[in-house]
Amino acid sequence: MRDRRRHDVVSWSMFFWFTTVVFSFVLFTGFSFSTFHLLFGETFHPVLALTRRISTVNAAVSNETRVPPVLSIRETVLLPDQVILFLKYPPSARLFTKDELVCIYLSAHDNPTKPRFKQPPARVDTEKLGEQIVRCPSCPRGMIVTVGSKSNGVLPPGPTHQWDSLAYEALIDNDNTTVVFVRGLNLRPERVSNASRYECVYGWDFTRLELLLRSEVLSIAQEIVRCKTPLSVLNNQRKVNSSVKASVRIKGNGILPSVARLGHLADSGHDPGPTRKPHEICICTMARNQARFLKEWVMYHAQIGIQRWYIYDNNSEDDTDSVIESLMDANYNISRHIWPWIKTQEGGFAHCALRARDSCDWVGFIDVDEFFHLPTGLMLHDVIRNLSSITTSFDTESGNIPIGEMRVSCHSFGPSGLKHVPQRGVMVGYTCRMAAPERHKSIVRPEALNSTLINVVHHFHLRDGFRFVDVDKTMMVVNHYKYQVWEVFKEKFYRRVATYVADWQDEQNVGSKDRAPGLGTRAVEPVDWSSRFCEVTDTGLRDRVLQNFANPGTSFLPWQNANDLQATGPSLE
Ligand SMILES: *[C@@H]1O[C@H](CO)[C@@H](O)[C@H](O)[C@H]1NC(C)=O
Ligand SMILES: *[C@@H]1O[C@H](CO)[C@@H](O)[C@H](O)[C@H]1NC(C)=O
Ligand SMILES: *[C@@H]1O[C@H](CO)[C@@H](O)[C@H](O)[C@H]1NC(C)=O
Ligand SMILES: *[C@@H]1O[C@H](CO)[C@@H](O)[C@H](O)[C@H]1NC(C)=O
Ligand SMILES: *[C@@H]1O[C@H](CO)[C@@H](O)[C@H](O)[C@H]1NC(C)=O
Ligand SMILES: *[C@@H]1O[C@H](CO)[C@@H](O)[C@H](O)[C@H]1NC(C)=O
Ligand SMILES: *[C@@H]1O[C@H](CO)[C@@H](O)[C@H](O)[C@H]1NC(C)=O
Ligand SMILES: *[C@@H]1O[C@H](CO)[C@@H](O)[C@H](O)[C@H]1NC(C)=O
Repeated sequence: MRDRRRHDVVSWSMFFWFTTVVFSFVLFTGFSFSTFHLLFGETFHPVLALTRRISTVNAAVSNETRVPPVLSIRETVLLPDQVILFLKYPPSARLFTKDELVCIYLSAHDNPTKPRFKQPPARVDTEKLGEQIVRCPSCPRGMIVTVGSKSNGVLPPGPTHQWDSLAYEALIDNDNTTVVFVRGLNLRPERVSNASRYECVYGWDFTRLELLLRSEVLSIAQEIVRCKTPLSVLNNQRKVNSSVKASVRIKGNGILPSVARLGHLADSGHDPGPTRKPHEICICTMARNQARFLKEWVMYHAQIGIQRWYIYDNNSEDDTDSVIESLMDANYNISRHIWPWIKTQEGGFAHCALRARDSCDWVGFIDVDEFFHLPTGLMLHDVIRNLSSITTSFDTESGNIPIGEMRVSCHSFGPSGLKHVPQRGVMVGYTCRMAAPERHKSIVRPEALNSTLINVVHHFHLRDGFRFVDVDKTMMVVNHYKYQVWEVFKEKFYRRVATYVADWQDEQNVGSKDRAPGLGTRAVEPVDWSSRFCEVTDTGLRDRVLQNFANPGTSFLPWQNANDLQATGPSLE
């Protein structure tokens, strides 16, 4: 204990010094590209072998008016099927568009003006002010990726990290603890690990131990580490925006590389205290290329009482972003959060739960192909209010323990005889399902979550002092359009999301319940696909939707594509 404190004090002065230097950089504007990057690159990012050649790379930057003076690649992460580059723009600089940028692949000995090859970026996203995420096609072994503008600027490559061992997100929670999301510690699922074997570290350069601040780990489980935040970090946080990185050190061993800059979450950071939260029920979801379902999913859930949607976008390449924007324009409170990290659904849900905590009384964790169905016709918040009040006041057996989680049974729907995507949406299109419900989906009170944030398959562990309740199927179920027409379903083969679930193309775990029974590992359509998974007809949600949403004259549904109406005329499918 004494030892740790000494570390803390010794490194504090260094830490402060560094903070001051970076802070003055931010205030300074007169640096030329090369001066800035030489200083910044050499001092803070010595990880990359190419750093010494940066002056050569800088020579390639011939149009300084097009490449803003201090634009730089903050970090580069090599994912299995793509490379993610985080660009940092100087304040008030115009951001490049996707069409203006190009991914550039160099080998260490190349002259940067003559790269091995170039590729257009797969996608360019802007989430925070002055920052951009560029996704490039994957990088052949031994090569280096950077980006340039088409009109001839090339940026010096940034520090490059492998994805399999990395601290990838970090934030300061309301209680001033730090939550770090890490990859590569290989901890067991659903178990608390031994915190005393790890510590958190803070700084800019994780290769130099003497420049780091350290702090005690409070809990560590799965891929989430919660630490005390050193006081100097807390105080400096307010001055220099999220410039310090956090990571985790295995005692007696190395430090995980990190791209995780400490930040507060946009939606949280204020303690709402006794005042009411703005929303009663919100939804967190993780989605990849689900744009075609989003409109129906959001419009329907708004009508049953959802007020806020957080969409963690995992590398979508369809028009997810523009569909979300059009929903915002139509006054739905929906936000898109870029979550490029692969196989980190648990981490993403935990992150979202923290984000939603100060804004939402209850948060549902469901997928975009899942719909809450309330057969009684009540609103979702009525059911929740009713349930939490009734069970707390009359359930003597459980001794008035407050409810932190409502578990809702899930019905899995089959292709229902269809061969093509139903034009009027999934709720009207699919009406035949399996008889037995599958595992539940949860609606939780974010305060009730265990501070480890352990969750597996949409199911969080609760804090001591809270309990769950099973919602009666006559009150509420989830309609899960799990086995849709083949054209849609086959994409699942390439879209496994959870950390601890094998890819469907892997041979391991072939009998798992997470797979479609009897499908094996190849994406080949079984001849009888359209009639599978059909045991009972269930038109409950379909009838309600037609009653509440269909235009009485045309029977047109609000999420339907306007062209469909002319093409097919009104129909009841
Ligand atoms: C630099 O960019 C500007 C603005 O796009 C362009 O007009 C100019 O021709 C470029 N100069 C060179 C030397 O490429
Ligand atoms: C968190 O830290 C800030 C700054 O040090 C302090 O003002 C605040 O009271 C702390 N909050 C909690 C919950 O400890
Ligand atoms: C946790 O790790 C520490 C240090 O390695 C060890 O001394 C301690 O016994 C461990 N605790 C448990 C519960 O395994
Ligand atoms: C911190 O961020 C805010 C808003 O995001 C911005 O107005 C302010 O200038 C930033 N401060 C520094 C020191 O970068
Ligand atoms: C959306 O909800 C957030 C809180 O979750 C709130 O801060 C924001 O003002 C809302 N936006 C709109 C457009 O209502
Ligand atoms: C609460 O639930 C009961 C049945 O469990 C129902 O009769 C009653 O109408 C509900 N009340 C409200 C306000 O929804
Ligand atoms: C969180 O869960 C762990 C076990 O999984 C338990 O030991 C701990 O007390 C829980 N934390 C709280 C705050 O309830
Ligand atoms: C995100 O998409 C990638 C494919 O780019 C997939 O491999 C991964 O499992 C997905 N992760 C999550 C958390 O959805």
